[in-house]
Amino acid sequence: MLLQALLLFLAMNLSSSYDIAFNYSSFHGANMSLNGVSEITGSGVLQLTNNSQPLIGHAFYSNLLQFKNSSNGSAFSFSTAFVFAITVPLVFPGSGLAFVISPTTHFEEADSAQYLGLFGLTGNGDPQNQVFAVEFDTLRNIDVGDIDSNHVGIDLNSVRSNVSAHAAYYLTENNKTTIHNLSLTSEDPIQVWIEYDGTEKLLNVTLSPIGIAGRTGQPLISYGVDLSPTLQEFMYVGFSASTGIVASYHSILEWSFAINGRARDLDTSKLPWYPRSKSSSKGLSMVSMIGISLSSIIVAIAAISVILFIVRRGTYEEIVEDWELEYGPHRFSYKEISMATNGFRDEELIGFGGFGKVYKGVMPDSGLQVAVKQVAQESEHRVREFLAEVSSIGKLRHRNLVPLLGWCKQRADLIIVYEYMPHGSLDKYLFNDDKPPLGWKQRHKILKGVASALLYLHEQWEQVVIHRDVKAGNVLLDAEMNARLGDFGLARLYEHGSDSQTTRVVGTFGYLAPEMSRTGKATTESDVFSYGAVLLEVACGRRPIDGQRPPEEIILVDWVWECIKGGKLLDVVDPRLEGCFDIGEITMVLRLGLWCSHPVPTLRPSMKQVYQYLDGDVPFPEISVTKMVVQEKKNDQYSFLETSYRHDPSSSSSADTAILLSGGR
Ligand SMILES: *[C@@H]1O[C@H](CO)[C@@H](O)[C@H](O)[C@H]1NC(C)=O
Ligand SMILES: *[C@@H]1O[C@H](CO)[C@@H](O)[C@H](O)[C@H]1NC(C)=O
Ligand SMILES: *[C@@H]1O[C@H](CO)[C@@H](O)[C@H](O)[C@H]1NC(C)=O
Ligand SMILES: *[C@@H]1O[C@H](CO)[C@@H](O)[C@H](O)[C@H]1NC(C)=O
Ligand SMILES: *[C@@H]1O[C@H](CO)[C@@H](O)[C@H](O)[C@H]1NC(C)=O
Ligand SMILES: *[C@@H]1O[C@H](CO)[C@@H](O)[C@H](O)[C@H]1NC(C)=O
Ligand SMILES: *[C@@H]1O[C@H](CO)[C@@H](O)[C@H](O)[C@H]1NC(C)=O
Ligand SMILES: *[C@@H]1O[C@H](CO)[C@@H](O)[C@H](O)[C@H]1NC(C)=O
Ligand SMILES: *[C@@H]1O[C@H](CO)[C@@H](O)[C@H](O)[C@H]1NC(C)=O
Repeated sequence: MLLQALLLFLAMNLSSSYDIAFNYSSFHGANMSLNGVSEITGSGVLQLTNNSQPLIGHAFYSNLLQFKNSSNGSAFSFSTAFVFAITVPLVFPGSGLAFVISPTTHFEEADSAQYLGLFGLTGNGDPQNQVFAVEFDTLRNIDVGDIDSNHVGIDLNSVRSNVSAHAAYYLTENNKTTIHNLSLTSEDPIQVWIEYDGTEKLLNVTLSPIGIAGRTGQPLISYGVDLSPTLQEFMYVGFSASTGIVASYHSILEWSFAINGRARDLDTSKLPWYPRSKSSSKGLSMVSMIGISLSSIIVAIAAISVILFIVRRGTYEEIVEDWELEYGPHRFSYKEISMATNGFRDEELIGFGGFGKVYKGVMPDSGLQVAVKQVAQESEHRVREFLAEVSSIGKLRHRNLVPLLGWCKQRADLIIVYEYMPHGSLDKYLFNDDKPPLGWKQRHKILKGVASALLYLHEQWEQVVIHRDVKAGNVLLDAEMNARLGDFGLARLYEHGSDSQTTRVVGTFGYLAPEMSRTGKATTESDVFSYGAVLLEVACGRRPIDGQRPPEEIILVDWVWECIKGGKLLDVVDPRLEGCFDIGEITMVLRLGLWCSHPVPTLRPSMKQVYQYLDGDVPFPEISVTKMVVQEKKNDQYSFLETSYRHDPSSSSSADTAILLSGGR
């Protein structure tokens, strides 16, 4: 009787003090302690990070749990099941997420990106960390020995995984077991089971798409390990995720957990809403919000995962300095780039873009085509400055910008890798007779694309980016002949020069705004000026300055102005268009080109206005000319029109105005 009572007491005691289980099908009201950027969304999802960069998000069950038997120091069995989803709204996926058992919920030293918000450069691998994690890593980082950009790894005190495997699941049908790959960044929910048997000292990790394979299937990873040295007696359990210079949403949709028991099965039939970028999903489509076509995202994701995949585990002669790791995920090995370009052979040279030679390359393993720009630098300080810039402009994503894929450093050389643009630059199409002439519709679309990219750089990104070298030669054409502006942001570094006292003017003669020669300062208005030159070039099919022409035609903007005044607008239109164009559109483009070329910066339109006129959203304003002085051309000096325009329809009385408005019709 007494014995029975004692046993009962013991059993109760044991179950109350050691065994614990909880399950959340919604995180509303869950006992979670959140830190970093993690939050519980309106739909009850535990969102660890959003798509900003670089971020760290942690979420732990609020209470300390006992993970070890205090009398014999042996780790208990535990079991967890959860459903997660990673959404990649833009081109690159962020770094990944991890299931974590940790002595603390605060990670003072933690870094984002490849350290998953758990460790820092110095603390990574320290046995004192006493952190156990199962990582779901979506970026391959050679510095921590990642096997690929889509893997699951078991991490003991370090993000250098003790064992890892490409994300996949096993299916057994008719006594036959087959393995199926799984994409962590598919945006579809993925279910995970992690089971540790404290007696057998065996850890199993099993993955599955919702409703396909079950937790009883063959585990993806079955790792014989004693977690007793890693775990402390009392630990927190939860999740961590981070983004680097690229980002994703990392969401946990449901979670159950148990110590010395089996985590409850989750009901995956009604998962809460979480952000998705695929337009196939119901609800809000982020793609349409951001305005990027689905196909280009898919192509880009495929391309980039291939690229990231082939960045090899590194034992090269390259010296990787600590500070470089900050810019980790984009780093390629020099060997890789060298192989891609056949050792930077002259045959692979495709141009001398601003700032350096450009080679065409083919990534050795994937066959992916890239454009490799070699930028010579003078000092490590400059390279660092440059890298900071590259990592910042690497975040710029727009359908009309050339995607930046990564970089690599070789001594004082910096190498920047872009997606290869198969149709080359716009100037070739405009000025070379060996390319087929572009039709007006194509030209109009290209102009709109470039305007959209500049509008993004000027007004729609988190900081104002001035391009500084807008010209037809920097407008590249992708496989679908969409305009992609290249070389954005790089000019700034060159302006600083080697001593910061002198400011070098960067830009190309004929596209440089007149005030640049006085102030040396690039502004959004000076970009608008250069864009005006592109508008005129595209409509007229010639360069802004062409010494081969009769004197009155040498300077394009002057010539267009004269022709518009003289009612002979069609004289300037590119003869290669063979008269096939929309006269309303081309007139507007020419007048807009003149307006953008206004010598007074503040009187030029903004990129937003330019885009709206091109898009036809807003009717082109009535512009009246109140004063006009065409300066004498002095030798090669770029003359300009001393004109002022007003947006005042009521005063459109002068003859000049009438001509401008009717524009040579
Ligand atoms: C845990 O699971 C049980 C059974 O499925 C369910 O009744 C309970 O509501 C769940 N608890 C939470 C917090 O979701
Ligand atoms: C959350 O944790 C606190 C503190 O341990 C506890 O008092 C409370 O009952 C818990 N709430 C839930 C919903 O588990
Ligand atoms: C992401 O979260 C951070 C911190 O909470 C916030 O500053 C940022 O605006 C968020 N970004 C997006 C895209 O929601
Ligand atoms: C803890 O270890 C002791 C000694 O090996 C054992 O008697 C006891 O049953 C263990 N406790 C639990 C909860 O397993
Ligand atoms: C320690 O306790 C665990 C249960 O908590 C038990 O499985 C194991 O056999 C014990 N080990 C020793 C050496 O007593
Ligand atoms: C796991 O990896 C860490 C870091 O690489 C290493 O220090 C540790 O010894 C490994 N542990 C096991 C059990 O292999
Ligand atoms: C699977 O294997 C078992 C044992 O080898 C056998 O009894 C069973 O008939 C097999 N089932 C099928 C569908 O082949
Ligand atoms: C699964 O992915 C691995 C690694 O990317 C690859 O080697 C393998 O061929 C893939 N298997 C299938 C069936 O696609
Ligand atoms: C782990 O997987 C192995 C192999 O499938 C299985 O025999 C074992 O029972 C599993 N252990 C746990 C704790 O799930």
